[in-house]
Amino acid sequence: MSKIKEVRPEKVAEILESFEHRVDSLIMILQDIQEEYRYLPEDALRIVADDLDLPLSQLYEVATFYRSFSLEPRGTHEVKVCLGTACHLRGGPMILENFERVLGVKAGQTTPDLDFTLETVNCVGACALAPLVLVDSDYHGETRPSKVKDILGKYSQK
Ligand code: FES
Repeated sequence: MSKIKEVRPEKVAEILESFEHRVDSLIMILQDIQEEYRYLPEDALRIVADDLDLPLSQLYEVATFYRSFSLEPRGTHEVKVCLGTACHLRGGPMILENFERVLGVKAGQTTPDLDFTLETVNCVGACALAPLVLVDSDYHGETRPSKVKDILGKYSQK
């Protein structure tokens, strides 16, 4: 079964309706679409562009300007390795390397099975837990490279 949700025009219409089709709510509309599909599918962007009477290129400009938007499908789980100063000093780069090796992707990429997207972050304010890895909203503190497989294992079947 495909992990990419099919774009249903009625769902996009529902999101547009919840913001009263307001152009000044464009960012929030895109946020809701991203939340629904975990990325911004072109079919959904076309519906929004038509509805708000905006050129599609303008939507792509907004989508590429904000780092929180993705034009590519994202993994079911987001792994974020902290590379802020405290985490960096306590081995963050080695932990990142291990995630890259085990997942077979580089930071910023998604595994082909769409299970995981690997990212880096710069300090999430939990330096006492360094080195820190976030999976979705779970904090994995004092991580070691040897724990990488165990961490991923917790999410592989979810
Ligand atoms: S440097 Fe990683 S949480 Fe602060």
